[in-house]
Amino acid sequence: MEFETRAIHVGQDPDPHTGAVSVPIYQTSTFVQDGVGEHRGYEYARTGNPTRTALQTVLASLEGTDAAVCFASGLAAEDAVFRLLAPGDHVVIADDVYGGTWRQLDRVHARFGVTSSAVDLTDLDAVAAALRPTTRIVWAETPSNPRLEVLDLAALATLAHDHGAWLVADNTFATPYLQQPAALGADLVVHSTTKYLGGHSDVVGGAVCTSAPLAEQLAFLQNAVGAVPGPFDAWLTLRGIKTLGVRMQRHCANAARIAAFLEADPRVAEVRYPGLASHPGHALASRQMRAAGGMVSLRVAAGGDAARRVATATRLFWLAESLGGVESLIEHPGVMTHASVAGTALQVPDDLLRLSVGIEAVDDLLADLDRALG
Ligand SMILES: Cc1ncc(COP(=O)(O)O)c(C=O)c1O
Repeated sequence: MEFETRAIHVGQDPDPHTGAVSVPIYQTSTFVQDGVGEHRGYEYARTGNPTRTALQTVLASLEGTDAAVCFASGLAAEDAVFRLLAPGDHVVIADDVYGGTWRQLDRVHARFGVTSSAVDLTDLDAVAAALRPTTRIVWAETPSNPRLEVLDLAALATLAHDHGAWLVADNTFATPYLQQPAALGADLVVHSTTKYLGGHSDVVGGAVCTSAPLAEQLAFLQNAVGAVPGPFDAWLTLRGIKTLGVRMQRHCANAARIAAFLEADPRVAEVRYPGLASHPGHALASRQMRAAGGMVSLRVAAGGDAARRVATATRLFWLAESLGGVESLIEHPGVMTHASVAGTALQVPDDLLRLSVGIEAVDDLLADLDRALG
């Protein structure tokens, strides 16, 4: 079955009791047992819930992995991955990642003895030099947040595996519709399902898609630590995923038009969009991704103060954190999503703005940006 068909059908058969075509929201905390220790697959809703199972099943199919394990947020999913490590283990992490990922590694897991090095993962020699005998994870985000770097997942997987490490790919920006990291060698694929997978800015969630043995360890952590999504959150994410393909097509088409418009505008010093020939990762993105995605970053020629004014002057691009919803958003990463990396190697430029291009009519979005830049 093709991607769009699987997004609607896998794990989502009509309810056998009623014929309901929408997976029921199993709003229950526990499940009656037929005898002591004899249950029908579900015993307690932290351990498992049928609505969550449907979501995990379709996500694994879309990412092409054995299994998926869902969490209450993207950061809860990442926390479970880092908990696979032990004190003394080392992580090589991209020097352009979501600020919260860095904060979790640097300020939470570091306290339990996990060490890390932030490295430019576009530079494979630098990655090779950073790998240590204790390195267990190479953590890649591509396209990255917020500079939209494109990373060579196949090459990173080879490097990581040669050193006995896992490649973890944060596929939040691309989604499985545009790229499937597991097919390129990634061992674990993490998601903030809050973003494109949910797609409507109405739910927070996370997932890890991986092999059966690693999924078993993660399911243990999911149950033991407990950061599970509620059934309604799982259902909202399932509903979003049904339209992922058509939404991504429109996000990509709109973002490509906006990136081209901004690149030709002298009020903009630089545009970062993997679909532009000027992007250093353009050829790699063309090989690795079906299309270039819905995120565009730009540097405002008149500097940081001007960038902050532009961010508050748009009317359709709402000033907000997050991304991947049907509505367009604008943000200033230095002050907003990436404030936690200020003063570190991951600091982002003050004149940088990040756009999450929605699926509105593109001419309205272009007019909004033109007016705000003015
Ligand atoms: C690329 C990326 N990964 C992970 C996360 C964290 O996900 P959540 O906010 O669902 O915890 C985010 C959030 O913005 C993100 O942008």
